[in-house]
Amino acid sequence: MPFDPAVIRASFAIVERRADHLTTFFYAHLFNHNPGLRSLFPASLHEQRDRMFAALTRIVLRLDDPERLTEYLRALGRDHRKFQVAPEHYPAFGASLIAALRQCSGHYWTPETEKAWTEAYTVIAQVMTGSAAGLPEDDPAWWEAEVASRRRAAPDLVVLTIAPMRPYPFTAGQYVTISSPRAPRVWRPYSIANAPRSDGGLEVHVRRVPGGLLSTLLVQDVMPGELLRLGPPLGDAVLAPASRRPLLLVAAGSGWGQTKALLEQLTAEQPEREATVLLAARSAAGQYDLDTVRRMLVRNPRLRVLTAVPGPTAGPDGVTALLRETLRRHGDFAGWDVHLSGPPELVAELAELLRALPSAPGLIRHDPAPLTFNRDRPLTSSDWFLDHRDVPWINRTDLG
Ligand SMILES: Cc1cc2nc3c(=O)[nH]c(=O)nc-3n(C[C@H](O)[C@H](O)[C@H](O)COP(=O)(O)OP(=O)(O)OC[C@H]3O[C@@H](n4cnc5c(N)ncnc54)[C@H](O)[C@@H]3O)c2cc1C
Ligand code: HEM
Repeated sequence: MPFDPAVIRASFAIVERRADHLTTFFYAHLFNHNPGLRSLFPASLHEQRDRMFAALTRIVLRLDDPERLTEYLRALGRDHRKFQVAPEHYPAFGASLIAALRQCSGHYWTPETEKAWTEAYTVIAQVMTGSAAGLPEDDPAWWEAEVASRRRAAPDLVVLTIAPMRPYPFTAGQYVTISSPRAPRVWRPYSIANAPRSDGGLEVHVRRVPGGLLSTLLVQDVMPGELLRLGPPLGDAVLAPASRRPLLLVAAGSGWGQTKALLEQLTAEQPEREATVLLAARSAAGQYDLDTVRRMLVRNPRLRVLTAVPGPTAGPDGVTALLRETLRRHGDFAGWDVHLSGPPELVAELAELLRALPSAPGLIRHDPAPLTFNRDRPLTSSDWFLDHRDVPWINRTDLG
């Protein structure tokens, strides 16, 4: 590695608390110096700001693990082709990133810091663009696809079947990013709710988020016959190859889609393997796919399904509390593989609880919880000094 990860980490700890400022400055700088690049981005940049900073955080957290970092950057670079980002765009992006880091670091910015970030960005851009350039010719930047069918499974949830126009290779447990011509340049991820099948179709379960742009379109407006675009498959919450350990699959809400895909693969390839599904929803009406669950139970005698629905008097965190309690009561997951799917905060909390158990599972898999910094982020530098908290990538013992 040509750059010093310790310098990057120390510098990132300074700007981390100024993420809003950094990303606002970054995009203003980028579009001011390169007005042509604005058209690559969607009209609203609110979400993208957080995603860009979250990606930077993920990169800084993985600096000591070059293998995982390279894997992440390769996937990110491959995925960026669907935004019509080309290798020649990377230097401008890097220049604005360095300018924003410098701006937010004040007198902590030194020639050494600038050198480390410049070298780090060069490597990052090389891996991202290198992966895009090295892909086989039949690996498209995106897949055109048609909505083959839709079923309203609950008042705010549709099950869509999507037919890609060319083969879409994926593994059960992965997710797909979707864009509709009704909202150009807006892409959102959705779990693929089936294992690969002979007709090449994909199923996605979409729940409408109040005020949400794409979920509202998909749940209310998009009809069979309409075209969508699909980004390359992403995610590594797939079944561990060759594992024969018992499986626990915890699914909350539309997280059932990912669990369903894993169960389809399990039933087809490892019918002898023991699996328990813990199916949670805020209310009985939220368990929208029980017919499919019943059919799976008939086909797979090694499958056990437990439902977790809090009583009507439970508060807004009722599902989380019930799942927490159920897992804690069971307690012994040594030798199990666990997959978690559902709202990111819930998944992050359950993963933490399971890891802390004395008999923790050997393997816990879930999609990356989007790192967002909207909550509890002090806005001013006096907050930063008054409310100093540990930053995860600084080892305090190194600081003496
Ligand atoms: C790996 C992954 C897999 C996913 N799989 C699925 C899936 O299978 N089915 C599914 O329905 N969704 C899934 N999601 C969520 C999905 O990607 C979108 O975030 C969701 O559909 C909202 O998009 P939107 O454009 O409608 O809302 P936006 O326009 O992006 O957001 C509108 C407002 O809603 C808030 N918001 C955004 N998403 C959520 C949310 N999920 N819950 C509560 N508030 C939110 C935003 O902060 C914003 O304030 C997945 C997300 C990830 C990261
Ligand atoms: C260090 C290099 C880069 C990093 C870490 C990075 C990170 C990200 C991330 C994490 C996303 C969100 C992906 C998703 O949710 O699907 C994203 C989206 C995007 N990036 Fe980058 N990116 C980089 C370089 C670039 C470059 C060079 C460009 C071109 C100017 C670019 C343009 C875009 C666009 C247009 C989007 C879509 C925006 C949206 O959906 O809201 N990125 N980037």
